[in-house]
Amino acid sequence: MGSRTLIIVASAHWPTKHLFKTGRPSRTDPPSTRPGPSSAATSSLSTLPFTAPPGAPFAATWSKTCFAPAESRSFLSYVIQDTHEYKKNTVRVLKNARFAVFCILLSMCFGVPMSDEEIEKVDDILKKVLVTLLPRIDDFLPMFGMLFFNQRKRVMEVRRAQIQTILPLIERRRSMIQNLGSDESAPSFAYIDTLFDLKLEGRKSSTPSDEELVTLCSEFLDGGTDTTSTAIEWGIGRLIQQPECQSKLFEEIKSTVGDRKVNEKDIEKMEYLNAFTKELLRKHPPTYFLLTHAVTRPTTLAGYDVPEHTNVEFFSAGISDDSTVWVDPMEFNPDRFLSDKEDADITGVKGVKMMPFGVGRRICPCLGLGTTHISLMIARMVQEFDWSAPPNVRTLDFSEKLEFSSQW
Ligand code: HEM
Repeated sequence: MGSRTLIIVASAHWPTKHLFKTGRPSRTDPPSTRPGPSSAATSSLSTLPFTAPPGAPFAATWSKTCFAPAESRSFLSYVIQDTHEYKKNTVRVLKNARFAVFCILLSMCFGVPMSDEEIEKVDDILKKVLVTLLPRIDDFLPMFGMLFFNQRKRVMEVRRAQIQTILPLIERRRSMIQNLGSDESAPSFAYIDTLFDLKLEGRKSSTPSDEELVTLCSEFLDGGTDTTSTAIEWGIGRLIQQPECQSKLFEEIKSTVGDRKVNEKDIEKMEYLNAFTKELLRKHPPTYFLLTHAVTRPTTLAGYDVPEHTNVEFFSAGISDDSTVWVDPMEFNPDRFLSDKEDADITGVKGVKMMPFGVGRRICPCLGLGTTHISLMIARMVQEFDWSAPPNVRTLDFSEKLEFSSQW
């Protein structure tokens, strides 16, 4: 297998220069360690073979869809209506927030009406995809590949089921847009519409195949579900632990919208809510590491020579906790962003002090969508309920663990 150089950037001082000024290390997919059939099957589950080229060819497509959260509003009442009573007066925040976010993204992705049964089927298969992709020892030591024959078989089965479940939705939307106008309830725009005729330079067949469409839609759904819902759960936890934050937020909502429901236009006017969401993403970035970046040309970093193909991981949580750039970084304090006490450009253009969405040209294309969903759902949840810990719990456990929210 040989060796691989890996650099972890955990200080706020390095990302700006290297993600903006030199453009290196850029995010291109690092070479796969997975050999043979396992490699083909697992990579097709999660990413397209052509997601890598520098310049992010999908950026425009993503932005078009993701910065226009038009369909989201009607779904937000879901969180309120569908917070099942798990134990008396106890709400499972993560489970419900995750499913609500998933439904929003499903609608944005396919733009077709779906029965509850269909929604659950897609949810189920995408959960299976995530679990099937968890790292295995043969990812790192391919010599053990033969020992994982059954797991490889399982990967192929899950891939087949993923195609069988998602392709019919794609086909339904395809025929819907061919007869647009015949169904007045059909949304005029869905993410998948932007992919049907996507032209990709340097490929024999220039538009994505059906299987690639399945993969791209799965990425859309996977990329936004865990991240957004995890942030919402941390947010509700913080509101419970720091009731003064909950009171301030509630007062701001009341003074901004009175008795009507908060909508996404209101968010712009709500300074405290925006500060709360920003602090949430600083203190609890949903992904601790960005996606792996790789060096495309030899460069230098912090005075060290870095060879081509080096993997570079950005430790987002470490950057947010850097005491050389933040006052009391371990404290959760939304007020730090009020009255220009401290500031941070979340896009990283003016400098990097936090990077929950990454920065530079491979920044999360749904930064706007993600923050809107977090702010709006938290605001609606606070508007509707007074959040507190269950009666038998004195203090909330804020220790962290690594897992997909879909495991709940
Ligand atoms: C709080 C919400 C979110 C957070 C914290 C987040 C975070 C991230 C991060 C850290 C990256 C990697 C950036 C890099 O490696 O430089 C990323 C990429 C990505 N995100 Fe998000 N994300 C969020 C919401 C969403 C949503 C709602 C979607 C889609 C509906 C989405 C889709 C994607 C995709 C497709 C990529 C890969 C882009 C590429 O390959 O260039 N994300 N996100």
